[in-house]
Amino acid sequence: MEGHPHPSDLLSIGEIAGRTGVAKSALHYYEQLGLIVATRTVGNQRRYHRHMVRRISLIVVAKRLGIPLADVQQAFGELPMDRQPTARDWRRVSKVWRATLAQRRHQIERLERELNGCIGCGCLSMSACKLLNPDDELSQQGPGPRRLEVDG
Ligand code: FES
Repeated sequence: MEGHPHPSDLLSIGEIAGRTGVAKSALHYYEQLGLIVATRTVGNQRRYHRHMVRRISLIVVAKRLGIPLADVQQAFGELPMDRQPTARDWRRVSKVWRATLAQRRHQIERLERELNGCIGCGCLSMSACKLLNPDDELSQQGPGPRRLEVDG
């Protein structure tokens, strides 16, 4: 019967937590963020459609990859909430996340190059050290010391 799930298709929060390894408090949070949805019983207990396990699995994968939940929200915005994400859905999301990881890798490589410039230097100069003051951002806040002020 389409539109009316069989009771066995609905899982309690304990069952979902047990299947995914995700804490109940985290499931509540994901629900608040709109990443997953639950229906309520007459007694106001949460019940999750079985296909929510797949969405939660994607969140777990994202977490392992260090993908921020804001990015997960964005990706999930294009996934239907009323059915299990398909392999095609997952391919699309994983491509976006791969691009995010590549961007992060480039940032880390740039920081590593800048750190290499600092090794053996030790100047910690606001004007010369790119790690301390990338792109001389602090000079745009005005003349004189901007960040390293000593109390007292
Ligand atoms: S410490 Fe000298 S350039 Fe960073």
